[in-house]
Amino acid sequence: MERETTHQAWLGTTACILLCLCTGPTGAEWAYAGHGGQSEWPSLFPECGGPSQSPVDVVTTQTRHEPSLITPQLLGYHQHRDTPFTLTNNGHTVEMSLPNWMGVAGLPWQFSAVQLHLHWGNGMNMAVGSEHTTDGQSASAELHVVHYNSELYANTSEAKSQENGLAVLAVLIEAGEEMNQAYDNILNHLDLIRHAGLSVAIPAFDVQALLPADLSRYFRYNGSLTTPPCHQSVLWTIFSERVKVSHSQLIMLETVLFSSKADEIQPTMLQNNYRSTQPLNHRVVLSSFIPGPVKIYTAGEIFAILLGCLCGCVGMAMIVHFIVKTFRAKDVTKDLKKDVTLHTTSDPGATEEATPQSEP
Ligand SMILES: *[C@@H]1O[C@H](CO)[C@@H](O)[C@H](O)[C@H]1NC(C)=O
Ligand SMILES: *[C@@H]1O[C@H](CO)[C@@H](O)[C@H](O)[C@H]1NC(C)=O
Repeated sequence: MERETTHQAWLGTTACILLCLCTGPTGAEWAYAGHGGQSEWPSLFPECGGPSQSPVDVVTTQTRHEPSLITPQLLGYHQHRDTPFTLTNNGHTVEMSLPNWMGVAGLPWQFSAVQLHLHWGNGMNMAVGSEHTTDGQSASAELHVVHYNSELYANTSEAKSQENGLAVLAVLIEAGEEMNQAYDNILNHLDLIRHAGLSVAIPAFDVQALLPADLSRYFRYNGSLTTPPCHQSVLWTIFSERVKVSHSQLIMLETVLFSSKADEIQPTMLQNNYRSTQPLNHRVVLSSFIPGPVKIYTAGEIFAILLGCLCGCVGMAMIVHFIVKTFRAKDVTKDLKKDVTLHTTSDPGATEEATPQSEP
């Protein structure tokens, strides 16, 4: 009898442990909030508690201008060949696979493209959604184009946990009035992958069009993946110029997808998939430019400025020419007068000297 109770107790405990293991956050299970949420990441994935985590708040006055930071060169971003891209809802974001012939140069190593994905808010508050912030301010969303170090490593799985293994290009996204055609290449297909685990092949398009026009102004620092397991292997580039999508495009991104699978009883929206900013600790954020008020001139404005300068220069030259001419004229008259006075009132000897010449 006693034996049986012990046996039952054992069974009960084992069942309980098994149940806990299955429902609790195991190796692969994490979320942005609630069960397995951000505060639990460091205990589930030790690297998430490391000293060089991402994202960070970029305090522009505390960045260090580094003149050697050249403009990254995007390789093959424009080419879209015939191979379609695969768009996947992985339950944490929408991810688009990229071919490894795409890449980026101008970094300390050659990097090959792997995938791009987005982070966003909740369809209500446009003031949140990005992972990186600048001077404490969030953008509405953020694009990450992930590359692996193809000079040092064989593939992404090998590179992602190694030092200098990955390079991510980050673009801060804001909501504006105008529709952004490039982003529609992704957004138009979201309704086919509403639930986690779904994928769709989409027509290839010019990936560079998702990025800002000015790639020369950016921030650079060493950080981590912003999702578990938070490997501290990422060389970050955050472009200073932001990209704009329309309000309705942003709302589509923020309200169409679910983080739950199609067969789950309780559907959960895929929203607020951004990690809060992490301490910089002893890291320095470098900038490729001297941060200051950004003034982007349009082609028309540049033409007007050049025309203004040209007119100004011509005007100035005319004024200088006029002044010089006037002075010269004055000098000539003065000299003439001097000559006249010399000739008329000069010492009589001169005239006396001259007269004998004419006399003989
Ligand atoms: C990545 O490269 C390593 C080392 O060459 C290899 O063992 C591994 O199978 C590769 N993984 C993939 C996914 O190709
Ligand atoms: C990143 O770390 C490497 C050492 O692994 C260092 O050489 C490099 O200067 C760092 N880059 C930045 C932007 O801090």
